[in-house]
Amino acid sequence: MSFRFVSTGSYVPENVVTNDDLAQFLDTSDEWITQRVGIKERHISQGESAADMAIRAAQNALDAAGLKGEDIDLIIAATLTADHRCPGVAATVQNAIGAHGIAFDMSAACSGFIFALETAAGYFERNTCTRALVIGAEQMSRILDWTDRGTCVIFGDGAGAAILEKGDNLIASKLFTRGGNEVIDIFDVTVETPFYHPEEKWMPHVFMNGQETFKFAVNTITTDIPALLEEAGLTDDDISYYVLHQANVRILQFAVKRLKSNPDKFPMNIDRIGNTSAASVPILLDELNRAGKLERGKLFVLSAFGGGLTGATAVVRW
Ligand code: COA
Repeated sequence: MSFRFVSTGSYVPENVVTNDDLAQFLDTSDEWITQRVGIKERHISQGESAADMAIRAAQNALDAAGLKGEDIDLIIAATLTADHRCPGVAATVQNAIGAHGIAFDMSAACSGFIFALETAAGYFERNTCTRALVIGAEQMSRILDWTDRGTCVIFGDGAGAAILEKGDNLIASKLFTRGGNEVIDIFDVTVETPFYHPEEKWMPHVFMNGQETFKFAVNTITTDIPALLEEAGLTDDDISYYVLHQANVRILQFAVKRLKSNPDKFPMNIDRIGNTSAASVPILLDELNRAGKLERGKLFVLSAFGGGLTGATAVVRW
């Protein structure tokens, strides 16, 4: 036993930042970002935290299902960017919507939402919750170095959520972590205390070896998806959509080619939303759901990769 999807929700801040807006203060261009990454614009918070966005996405998912906060007894929020360490995003959402039971955050970077789904499946298996709210929420803009054109142009802010009940719609999954900081490293602020005076001081920022990340992403997607389908006795013909982490349009195009699949099965919103880390997969899922593209009973694949390094792929039934 695992879960079934009841509803989805999402939210992105109103403020849209185009590539031309970035070129006002960075040595970059719309042409470079469009060609190398596939992003035209992203939504950037003007004061809304990851928790604020998570609350909007959660309310959206509750409304879609005709449920109230009190109907939820488990909240898991995948995030890297909570502005309060405690209470975290999940606990803040719980308080705002009037839910009860268990609420906690988890950090598995861009793979976080799928890690959170897998975690929720364990609660259903053990009958320790009745209805779960799983969220991916990120205010990436608060941890970016806005002078580093190699990283700040690719990220955006937003939140996505799904409400789950007990069911058997998690068909197969594969999660992994390859611990190390050589490829992606997200720094927190350096803290000086009366007992420690660090030589180096830094503000939060993202270090990313772009080309190594690219290789890791393509390799993860093109290895794990076919392996998981085979393990589940499925083929590409059984899958209606591949809902992949939106990190770079070229990574997604590689995936289509290597998986020898139909590009129409690979929905994309990276051009409008950018890379929203843990929020990426649930925002795209909600867009598909709201567009009426997810048919009950059909199978689809969720797959993400990111810092950690982490990778996560799941075959689910809608
Ligand atoms: N605008 C203009 N030029 C830029 C730029 C920008 N925003 N960012 C980098 N460049 C320049 C570099 O400085 C470099 O210049 P140089 O040749 O004069 O040294 C040149 O473009 C090529 O840089 P490179 O890093 O080799 O580009 P790339 O083709 O690998 O593209 C990424 C960079 C980051 C877009 C690409 O590597 C990528 O998408 N990687 C995966 C990232 C990812 O998925 N991250 C999310 C993880 S969850």
